[in-house]
Amino acid sequence: MLAARAAFVENLDADAISVPLGDGSLGVDARGGWCVPTEVPAEIAAQLDLYLPYCLPRPGGLCVAHIGQSLDGRIATENGESRWVTGEADLLHCHRMRALADAVLVGAHTVRADNPQLTVRRCAGRNPTRIIIDPELNLSDRHLVFRDGAAPTVVVAAEEHAARRIEVGGREVLGVPRVGRLIDVAALRTALGRRGLSVVFIEGGGITISRFLEAGCLDRLQIAVAPIIIGSGRPGIALAGDRPLDRAFRPRIRRFTLGVDTLFDCDFDA
Ligand SMILES: NC(=O)c1ccc[n+]([C@@H]2O[C@H](COP(=O)([O-])OP(=O)(O)OC[C@H]3O[C@@H](n4cnc5c(N)ncnc54)[C@H](OP(=O)(O)O)[C@@H]3O)[C@@H](O)[C@H]2O)c1
Repeated sequence: MLAARAAFVENLDADAISVPLGDGSLGVDARGGWCVPTEVPAEIAAQLDLYLPYCLPRPGGLCVAHIGQSLDGRIATENGESRWVTGEADLLHCHRMRALADAVLVGAHTVRADNPQLTVRRCAGRNPTRIIIDPELNLSDRHLVFRDGAAPTVVVAAEEHAARRIEVGGREVLGVPRVGRLIDVAALRTALGRRGLSVVFIEGGGITISRFLEAGCLDRLQIAVAPIIIGSGRPGIALAGDRPLDRAFRPRIRRFTLGVDTLFDCDFDA
């Protein structure tokens, strides 16, 4: 998958590329269709179906979010415990998605609750740039993303805080304008694109992903559903206001099995 992504990056206008796979080769066309000279195991075929669309060149960039939730739509308990709602296979999936992304993005609550590293550790691939939305620069230095030096780390703050780089321990602060009280996620996406961070993987939480969805800034949303019912807790997608059914999002869906969980891969571009 990494080789396919690299081949498309090197040949942006290619209609198709070919990369080594086992003893043969894998052909991939610019729409994610693939072919191999001999039959591959069903598990490998499912991985090619799932990940190759994320390896294709995208002139306007790609913004894909992932959320792991219970059958009743919760991503964490009331007190913020979320390890683990979904299982090992979904965790591996997230590391694979990080490896295919230029940047991994999370909201401030996720850093505070989970102290994540946001690096690629369960599969091959390089660490993406880490982007943390912390509008008022409230997060302290003690979090791993600010201490481990494992990947470039950028804190997205409201524009008026852009000059506070020194005060936050030298880590980079990217000032982004607001829309009302919120960070303008469309402007953020453009700013990341200008830095060459065109494939952005948003790993949560629900508030952050919902803001991108509401602003029409998500190309894909992956919802991994675990066969558990928590009964209360933090919601996944939650949009403002009372939305009538005829305004519901109706993305094209692909379904994949990830261990005991089911992944719904929602495509809003379709
Ligand atoms: N199951 C999963 O897949 C999963 C994944 C990630 C996290 N989690 C869990 O989910 C919980 C955290 O999720 P969450 O939904 O509560 O919060 P979150 O999305 O992690 O963070 C939300 C906060 O980020 C900032 N933010 C994000 N987008 C913004 C925007 N457009 N404009 C301004 N500020 C913005 C705000 O910070 P301020 O509050 O400072 O204004 C906002 O309150 C934790 O318990 C974590 O363990 C679960």
